[in-house]
Amino acid sequence: MQATAISKRTSAFYKDVMKGLRSSPKFLNSKYFYDERGDELFQQIMGCDEYYLTNCEMEILKTQSADIVATIFASENNFDVIELGAGDCSKSVYLLRQVSRRNKNFTFFPIDISSHVIDLIEEDLPKKVRDLNIKGLNGEYIEMLKKANQFSHKRKLILFMGSNIGNMNYGQSISFCKEVRSCLQPGDYLLIGFDLKKDPQIILNAYNDKKGITREFNLNLLRRINRELNADFTIENFKHFPVYNPESGECKSYLVSKYKQKVSIGDTEIIEFNENETIHTEISTKYSVDQINEIADLTGFETIEHFYDSKNWFVDVLWQCR
Ligand code: AVI
Repeated sequence: MQATAISKRTSAFYKDVMKGLRSSPKFLNSKYFYDERGDELFQQIMGCDEYYLTNCEMEILKTQSADIVATIFASENNFDVIELGAGDCSKSVYLLRQVSRRNKNFTFFPIDISSHVIDLIEEDLPKKVRDLNIKGLNGEYIEMLKKANQFSHKRKLILFMGSNIGNMNYGQSISFCKEVRSCLQPGDYLLIGFDLKKDPQIILNAYNDKKGITREFNLNLLRRINRELNADFTIENFKHFPVYNPESGECKSYLVSKYKQKVSIGDTEIIEFNENETIHTEISTKYSVDQINEIADLTGFETIEHFYDSKNWFVDVLWQCR
């Protein structure tokens, strides 16, 4: 057997794909959307008319960063900033400028799963925020948060924006917030972005844009499995199918098999699909403000303030560790 075939089979990606496709119902983890092509498609989604989330949160940060930072400085004037899933920092840059106007001595720790992203931030951000001390950390959120604790002994402001928490269900978001809390000290802050429940059609449209970019984003997961795990999905044999349940606030995306078909993965595995059988690929949870406050209560945080966009479609909430 060839060495590359063995290493493919021992990779976390392969194991997760096989586990999900052998389950009933079938599922794939949405973290695997983000290969190079997936990153590109997500950038395009953020520019789609229907995908309101980015504009709403950008408006909050452009217009209210000074208020957010002033709220923190009312009780604390020397803290470091850590961003979970920093991406291109296009939103956090507004907050960082405000922090640096008041405190020249802070360090910014962007955390991202992509080393490419961290390299770009380290090169680019100091041009946008004067006198910025920056130390990028490449890896999983919690592991890197623990690492940041080894470098920083100051009070902390953690940023977790972009409704990334929405890609967990309610139970997972509780566990995640508890885990983040366990890495922090009383008095530390967390600024966290939630997409709010609203007209269900607006939400559904955000995950089913007319140009079909979200469709491509979802199908790219199958293309990635073909590319990286030597599979033979016929992409046209699957359709993108998002549904939104306004009661639970869960927007779920599926890939639906149009026909009864077989797909081979690697040299040895065959996965069978019935006609109309689904693969669940993503959850994007939408919250009420009461639910958000409840999460803070249950996970060891006190709610300090809610910062909304002008349509009240999105909220960045400032929590402080109890
Ligand atoms: C990254 N995440 C918050 C996006 C979302 O809205 O769930 C990913 C996405 N999926 C489809 N469109 C955007």
